[in-house]
Amino acid sequence: MEKAVVVNFGGQYAHLIARRIRERGVYAEIIQPEDVEKAAKNPEVKAIILSGGPSSVYQSVAPDIPDEVFQLGKPILGICYGHQLIAKKLGGEVRRGKGEYGKTLVRLVGKDPIFDGWEAEEVVWMSHEDYVAQPPPGFSVLAMSENGYVAAMRKGHIYGVQFHPEVAHTAKGGVLLENFLRKVAKINDFWRPEDQIGRIVEEIRRKATEGDVIVGVSGGVDSTVTAVLVHMAVGERAHAIFIDHGLFRDGEPEQVAALLNSLGVKVHVIDARERFLRRLEGVSDCEEKRRIVGETFAEVFAEAVARFPNARYLAQGTLYPDVIESGAVKGADKIKSHHNVGGLPPWFSLSLVEPLREFYKDEVRKIAKALGLPDEVVYRHPFPGPGLAVRIIGPFTKEKLEIVRKATKIVEEELEKAGLLRKVWQAFAVVGDDKWVGVKGDRRAVGYVVTVRVVESEDAMTADWAKLPYDVLEKISARITSEIPHVTMVAYATTTKPPSTIEPC
Ligand code: XMP
Repeated sequence: MEKAVVVNFGGQYAHLIARRIRERGVYAEIIQPEDVEKAAKNPEVKAIILSGGPSSVYQSVAPDIPDEVFQLGKPILGICYGHQLIAKKLGGEVRRGKGEYGKTLVRLVGKDPIFDGWEAEEVVWMSHEDYVAQPPPGFSVLAMSENGYVAAMRKGHIYGVQFHPEVAHTAKGGVLLENFLRKVAKINDFWRPEDQIGRIVEEIRRKATEGDVIVGVSGGVDSTVTAVLVHMAVGERAHAIFIDHGLFRDGEPEQVAALLNSLGVKVHVIDARERFLRRLEGVSDCEEKRRIVGETFAEVFAEAVARFPNARYLAQGTLYPDVIESGAVKGADKIKSHHNVGGLPPWFSLSLVEPLREFYKDEVRKIAKALGLPDEVVYRHPFPGPGLAVRIIGPFTKEKLEIVRKATKIVEEELEKAGLLRKVWQAFAVVGDDKWVGVKGDRRAVGYVVTVRVVESEDAMTADWAKLPYDVLEKISARITSEIPHVTMVAYATTTKPPSTIEPC
């Protein structure tokens, strides 16, 4: 299979570039700068993309690649930092300027296949301070920005663009990437995630040759697809374990079990609600709640696995971004300790099977669709590992748990009725300790404040609050206060991420 490699210079850019390329049917992998020479010599690699990144070429620790890479004849496209790196390495000049941020107009200078389909002027998305003051010898300028910076340059098979074609605000960015891959790098192969199912199943079969394969399922699309693929590969040797921690949404455990059973996957539901809820009772601190759920989960899961003496493998739905953390910054502040089924302790003696480790979430959804999974699984909203526990602010109580569970159901139902549920990233309710005086049945009633949070997002890194129609908000609000005892006020959360996060805790 012909492929492109994206050299990861840090930040989130590399993943975004790889996703955009794959969307256009070309297989792309992310590699680290130290592996670029090897990749450039690999006949399957037809194109090299140097990503953007947070560094400046003049920092002493700025990521770099060997000079030889430019002499191997492979088409190279540098983006932002990659563009500046090309300029510096090949004898041009990079300087610090006043910077360009956000939507910027660029003007094409002459014609080039990489700009096929572009108008003479287009809006692109920029984010840079350094700029190419002097392109290297032999390079021609292909586009200039409205502020007089070099926006694109080329010499033979080497291209650099100062803007970010991978960002949605660069309207013709996808076209540019496709032109580079198909017209310059001459990649003909067409890659689609759903065509990989046969190969994935074959690989699981080859790896898990004997014994039982345990799959931890949570109801989410990743673990459900993993369970189905494992079942396709090893049949009766596949066992799905679903731990009911009591922190799921209304009816969720039953739906997950029924679905997997209907697909022929044996599912073992472990009712551990009592243990989780007992340990959480009264706990206020968010991180403490997360720690309790994570630890209890590992404990219950280990006990469940111990019931399978022939267990040899543990399958989990790890995704590509978890494998290659391009966004990981050393020493960065921990904002929340995320808990996943994957967060199992190292003493687990089973070999890991991770059939989705080369895929992005939207690709897993395509695989799920191709496997015939119902839409409610394919398009299911992300749900945190510690479940509703992170949607309770202040001391955890069963009363608050029931309030968020019921209120979340109402939010989902009303959005579904309005045809909006699938259009938003997440939609849920939160409860804390604030109280509001109300009148219920002509009597004074002091009740809880429920906060409704509905957000739009592409990848959860940033999020915007959904501008829901007032009548939808009104229905949600009226139903919550009338159907849930002890709730007298509904608020709508109108803060973006950042500065907020999506979940309250
Ligand atoms: P925040 O609240 O940090 O959440 O903006 C970003 C996304 O992550 C989800 N989330 C979790 N997912 N385990 C998960 O698998 C967790 O512990 C967890 N906590 C938050 C959250 O729902 C949002 O989509």
